[in-house]
Amino acid sequence: MTLRPFWTYYGGKWRAAPRYPRPIYDTIIEPFAGAAGYALRYPEHKVILVEKNAKVAAIWRYLLRVSSSEVRALPLLGDGQTVDDLSVCEEARYLIGFWMNKGAASPCKSPSRWAVTYPNQSWGEHIRNRVASQVDHIRHWRLIEGDYTDAPEVEATWFIDPPYIGAGQHYPTKVASFATLAEWCRARTGQVMVCENEGATWLPFQPFLAIKGNESRHGGKVSREAIWTNWDEDDAIERGEHRREEEGYDPSDAWRFCEGCGCRKQTARARSWSDHSWCDDCTSRE
Ligand SMILES: C[S@@+](CC[C@H](N)C(=O)[O-])C[C@H]1O[C@@H](n2cnc3c(N)ncnc32)[C@H](O)[C@@H]1O
Repeated sequence: MTLRPFWTYYGGKWRAAPRYPRPIYDTIIEPFAGAAGYALRYPEHKVILVEKNAKVAAIWRYLLRVSSSEVRALPLLGDGQTVDDLSVCEEARYLIGFWMNKGAASPCKSPSRWAVTYPNQSWGEHIRNRVASQVDHIRHWRLIEGDYTDAPEVEATWFIDPPYIGAGQHYPTKVASFATLAEWCRARTGQVMVCENEGATWLPFQPFLAIKGNESRHGGKVSREAIWTNWDEDDAIERGEHRREEEGYDPSDAWRFCEGCGCRKQTARARSWSDHSWCDDCTSRE
């Protein structure tokens, strides 16, 4: 099962998430949670979110406890209204505020041009139903409001997506020291992947993906993503470290989705981070 984003967020990874390695462990930890684009693709896992921004943490606390009927009862905005005109709790106000614009780093008060142009993609019946139909699927998730260093010291799949070193100014909450963060990432146990932009050097990042930005906010610019991971598939097979928790796990199914057709075929080429991840069929059509 895949869930769709509960809100649209600056730097959200929901669209790109299937192109990152699939989780090997039952527990997924996102220590820079944001809108949790990676965990939403694997909602049945034990998910632990850590988030320092009080408004973002408040939204998660709300989503983890609210019933679907309460969500369905949330008001829509009338003509000329702003989010402040709605009589709802603060957390719901933040959630609705994020739907006033596409890919914002903080909740907004009134509908942007995008929201007016695309009523089905912003806060309206469609999105309200989506949120309502999804909340029951994340009841078992856990939120820790705090710094990334407050994450529990457990063996897990770690999806670490901090504010990027060159773009952190967009977020109200920041990383104090990337050198300290690098040390901390290296010290995690399990399957660890860290996201950054190409060019970042605080870990030995490899070029990974080109993501097309949203037209309205970033002029359709391509973001060149890089990754650092401790996870070498071949080494892990040799060490017998494959989904310890699951019997009958087939390591050949563990890697990436084909960039050509989206299938899950494993190829030798898919093992190289700096290479394309294409299945044999798509490679032969190249
Ligand atoms: C790039 S965004 C994560 C996006 C997320 N992967 C998604 O798909 O939506 C980074 C998040 O880390 C949060 N953050 C910033 N500094 C933090 C810190 N020191 N500890 C925990 N979270 C932090 C920001 O508030 C932001 O929500």
